[in-house]
Amino acid sequence: MISTPEQQAVDAAITSRRSIRAYLPQAVAREDVTAILRVAGRAPSGTNTQPWKVYVLEGERKRELSSAILAIHNDPEQAGQHTEEYAYYPRQWVSPFIERRRKVGWDLYALLGLTRDNKAGMAAQHGRNYEFFGAPVGLIFTIDRVMEQGSWLDYGMFLQSVMVAARARGLDTCPQAAFTQYHRVIRSALDLPANEMVVCGMALGYADTTKIENSLITERMPVEEFVKFVA
Ligand SMILES: Cc1cc2nc3c(=O)[nH]c(=O)nc-3n(C[C@H](O)[C@H](O)[C@H](O)COP(=O)(O)O)c2cc1C
Repeated sequence: MISTPEQQAVDAAITSRRSIRAYLPQAVAREDVTAILRVAGRAPSGTNTQPWKVYVLEGERKRELSSAILAIHNDPEQAGQHTEEYAYYPRQWVSPFIERRRKVGWDLYALLGLTRDNKAGMAAQHGRNYEFFGAPVGLIFTIDRVMEQGSWLDYGMFLQSVMVAARARGLDTCPQAAFTQYHRVIRSALDLPANEMVVCGMALGYADTTKIENSLITERMPVEEFVKFVA
């Protein structure tokens, strides 16, 4: 099958996206961040409701949020008092999802040389989430809490558009549900209005390709496994 340069460019932007968990200190131009979010804002949404709102954190404000979260996260007693506002994951894990979830976790830890008994090492790696994995830009996404499930569907399209538009500019990302646990800290640091709910965070920057964690290539099921042609 012959593919056009346009097909190749779009496919490459989608398939080259991976969750990147170590970044170069190299700054991201504001114009690029704005362009990425402008392009992503073209994502579809039911009756054009556009339920997204984005806080772009850089420099000192980003560091302040990271410090505020990590001060709590690193103290199990305090961390235990912070729970997410919405369930991102199922309350009860079943096959095949649980196996996939475990595999990606163990694959990442194995790359980092973390054995299953190294709970402290795994916790430290998880804690890197709250530094946006060293990315110069941290994004926090919120939604108005009056919005229903359909708008969360729209939100997913917006998030993927951000990540794909970033790839088109040589930038990398990692979507981060880890931030939802600390929505109260984020609310206070960003002065979020009461009607806004934290959807997730996202690291944005240039990948540090020398870091082993960035060599993780996650698996996908073959297309035949999740597609059924009905004719
Ligand atoms: C909404 C969302 C939230 C995620 N949250 C986290 C997170 O908090 N920390 C993390 O390291 N990865 C997070 N991930 C990344 C997933 O683990 C990753 O997308 C999955 O393993 C597939 O790998 P890939 O993104 O490299 O293709 C998240 C992904 C999505 C879509």
